[in-house]
Amino acid sequence: MTAFELPAGTRVIVGLDAIDRLGELAHEVHGRDAAPRTLVVTDPGIVAAGHVDRACRILAGVGIDAAVFDAVRENPTSDDVDACVDAARAHRTELLIGLGGGSSLDTAKGCNFVLTNGGRIHDYKGHGLAAEPMLPLIAIPTTSGTGSECQSYALIADATTHMKMACGDPKAAPRIAILDASLTRSQPHAVTACTGLDAITHAVEAAVSTRGGDASRRHAREAFRLTIDALPRVLAHGDDLDARADMHLGAAHAGAAIELGMLGAAHSAANPLTAHYAITHGHAVAMMLPHVIRYNAGDDAVAAAYRDLFASAGRVAPDADAGLAAFALADAIEALVREAGLPLSPAAQGATMDAVQTLAAEAAAQWTARFNPRAVDATAFESLYRAALATEADPT
Ligand SMILES: [Fe+2]
Repeated sequence: MTAFELPAGTRVIVGLDAIDRLGELAHEVHGRDAAPRTLVVTDPGIVAAGHVDRACRILAGVGIDAAVFDAVRENPTSDDVDACVDAARAHRTELLIGLGGGSSLDTAKGCNFVLTNGGRIHDYKGHGLAAEPMLPLIAIPTTSGTGSECQSYALIADATTHMKMACGDPKAAPRIAILDASLTRSQPHAVTACTGLDAITHAVEAAVSTRGGDASRRHAREAFRLTIDALPRVLAHGDDLDARADMHLGAAHAGAAIELGMLGAAHSAANPLTAHYAITHGHAVAMMLPHVIRYNAGDDAVAAAYRDLFASAGRVAPDADAGLAAFALADAIEALVREAGLPLSPAAQGATMDAVQTLAAEAAAQWTARFNPRAVDATAFESLYRAALATEADPT
């Protein structure tokens, strides 16, 4: 078992069956003699997989009788946060545990803002708007994708408009993240594929974003090196726990990379595809990423950054031609989407050339586009969508 600490102060505990340390760690973050009043925030699928029972048994073993809020939904809204706050208040909660995918972790974080600082989650849209101390949070991800366990932001949608709000504060970052890859075996194959593609996209976008610095690039390189190698192994053999451990650690590093370095145009272009055609987030970002890489590689310095990233994973020589290396990286991402058995073109899920202008206008308005290393406007997004739609729709 290994451990390391992130800039936001999150201590990351890594190892198979690391969840067995949950009881000891819960007492440690609480820091008092009495057992912390604890709420486990999760979803029904995680309950069905047996992970919640296991966590509660471990906690009971150290005298913690935890309550469970198991009503987390995908893409949590302000209403979901309010329901979680009600449960946390009713239990007089002193410690939060987020157990599940990114939605469970974000709901626990969102609940922490409102529970400790009052008002509603909308009040914390932005960064650093929580004046009062927040409760300790332990994050236990069961998917290898969002990297929310290494971030101080909760992504919560307004319940009425469904616009996503990024609510961040250094105090909202989990005190401890437990990366136990054995918990990811319960993911369906499609979830493994889409969350894994999302993690790789986080690594590639954060590696070249305008916001990035040395620390974010270090996390991005480590994330990319781990995930580009491990994702095909996990897709081929879902029981390969070594590969799952690499994916889990890689996704966490990618989370740290985007916490520090932000994202880019692939995420901006993906969100309208998800909104209009219900294309899963990880699939949508991976569909757009190869086109974004080829577009960004038009800038020599960005092409060199892609070459360096690809070289750091041992896929091209460090002195390879930057433009060719960047295009090889784009091809490698397309190959991964194919290996996942997913279509490369949004046309396979109903998008048409007629929609390009609308999609491009929406993509240009996304905040992530601001950190793309080459300027992107609506015209550039139109070209990116046209290129994606022209890609053969058949995954085989
Ligand atoms: Fe993402």
